[in-house]
Amino acid sequence: MYSEKVMDHFNNPRNVGEIENASGVGTVGNAKCGDIMRIYLDIDQSGIIKDCKFKTFGCGAAVATSSMATELVKGKTVQQALEVTNKAVMEALDGLPPVKVHCSLLAEEAIHAALWDYAEKNGIVIEGLKKPKKDIHEGEEDGEEY
Ligand code: FES
Repeated sequence: MYSEKVMDHFNNPRNVGEIENASGVGTVGNAKCGDIMRIYLDIDQSGIIKDCKFKTFGCGAAVATSSMATELVKGKTVQQALEVTNKAVMEALDGLPPVKVHCSLLAEEAIHAALWDYAEKNGIVIEGLKKPKKDIHEGEEDGEEY
């Protein structure tokens, strides 16, 4: 059911942890399953993502997608990190079962939320970045589904 890459990232997740004084932190949740993901970004003066860590209180697919997502954004510019969509993460993992696609959305949203936090802290605008749901509880009120 899961690809070898998914199992590998689930069993040996990369970049688990926190970054102290991170340039940007994003926390998102899925109201339906209750899973939560937080991403920390360390971004240097020239806008390159030097480090990225995550914490996920969630299912195996959420762990694997956040692990892969952190690997994909490391070393990228802020603009390039925006291209790390859930589709890109899923492709890098050789796919996910259809019922688990929403888990990969959490990773994309967490990265975007962390980038938004970074942009806000630095008073910059990242082209193409939309304001994320600030509060992870907002989704519950919206009744939004993935
Ligand atoms: Fe909730 Fe996977 S089941 S993120």
